[in-house]
Amino acid sequence: MTRATEQAGEDMTSTRPIPIVACLAGDGIGPEVMAEAGRVIDGASQLFGIRVRQVHLPFGGEAIDRYGEPFPSHVRAAVKASDAVLLGAVGGPRWDSAPRRPEEGLLGLRKELDAFANLRPVRHADIDLIVVRELTGGLYFGAKELSEDSASDTCTYTREQIERVARWAFRLARRRKGRVVSVDKANVLSTSKLWRRVVTELQQSEFEEITLHHELVDSFAMNLATKPQAYDVILTENLFGDILSDLAAAVGGGLGLAPSASLGKEAPGIFEPVHGSAPDIAGQGEANPIAMILSVAMMFTYGLGRRDIGRAITAAVDEVMSQGYATADQVSGGRAYATWEVGQAVCEALSHHSSGGGEFAANPYREVIARG
Ligand code: NAD
Ligand code: IPM
Ligand code: MN
Repeated sequence: MTRATEQAGEDMTSTRPIPIVACLAGDGIGPEVMAEAGRVIDGASQLFGIRVRQVHLPFGGEAIDRYGEPFPSHVRAAVKASDAVLLGAVGGPRWDSAPRRPEEGLLGLRKELDAFANLRPVRHADIDLIVVRELTGGLYFGAKELSEDSASDTCTYTREQIERVARWAFRLARRRKGRVVSVDKANVLSTSKLWRRVVTELQQSEFEEITLHHELVDSFAMNLATKPQAYDVILTENLFGDILSDLAAAVGGGLGLAPSASLGKEAPGIFEPVHGSAPDIAGQGEANPIAMILSVAMMFTYGLGRRDIGRAITAAVDEVMSQGYATADQVSGGRAYATWEVGQAVCEALSHHSSGGGEFAANPYREVIARG
């Protein structure tokens, strides 16, 4: 399998005439929001005169039930042969005390694809920020022990792991307002002391035009909650990024709106909402599909080299939201629309935001795709 990035050396653009998207719907509301993602891909494909092949694969709890493991080997092979991976959500109370957990599959997928840079943008009213979370290191992946009376998780970071994700943050900042805040706990943790030193050195050697600040994670959480407008690019390690990106989503209108892209050196990247499987509302047709649909927009932009389509989908979402199409998590008082109704409204609005035509082009984001 020839993958685009192996040819281009530096971007994730698909060069295949019909790109393959591996769709892992997963559990809970995953399949509900994935269905709308599929409709938006179909709608955009028709409008822009392209073809995209969606391949549906079992993953997470669903795969545990069918195959005894959350990320079976045939799914692993299919994912690696794809141009982009679209993921709904995994997990749920059914598997919380099972020997294998759905979340294991998600961590395995991120590691397998070396998707180290997790971009979690928030745009809402006067807030326009992006969390750049390191995704394949830190406490999540260090040595672990668990016995009856003691447990440990090890946090390790290397210079290389820090540099490659920091480069992503700085390159994104170049295209935005030119400001990066790096969030750590350098008053206590050794990994944070290294993190701060490496990020500072990288800024001084390669990104002098970018303004870099450092904040400690505890007071940063307070600042993010009280003045989110102050931030542009937020760079942080894995666990802090997990927590802070839910907080950023909350100040930006809620988890139902927050998309993400997880990128490595080469395709495929993983595109998934920040939210989980929401067992409390699963099966009721009321999940907000916007975070998933915006993840589709990020997939076109970063994964398939079609920034124009990514923009059209984002504009269609903005239009639909401004018209008041909102699921239950977004309305206070007015009518709550169903998942499918919001998805349908986005599909219909798409035609207002397309100039149409065109093949898969060179990736306009080539410049910001990090190299190792
Ligand atoms: P969650 O994100 O699933 O839900 C938190 C709250 O937000 C819930 O009240 C839920 O109803 C609401 N919510 C989330 N997405 C929504 C949407 N699209 N529309 C409307 N409301 C939405 O977090 P949780 O409840 O802590 O976790 C549930 C399960 O999901 C756990 O098993 C967890 O491990 C897993 N999880 C998976 C992912 C992933 O697959 N990427 C991410 C986070 C959590
Ligand atoms: C996320 C999720 C995952 C994480 C879990 C489900 C493993 O919370 O994508 O934010 O902690 O990274
Ligand atoms: Mn999370």
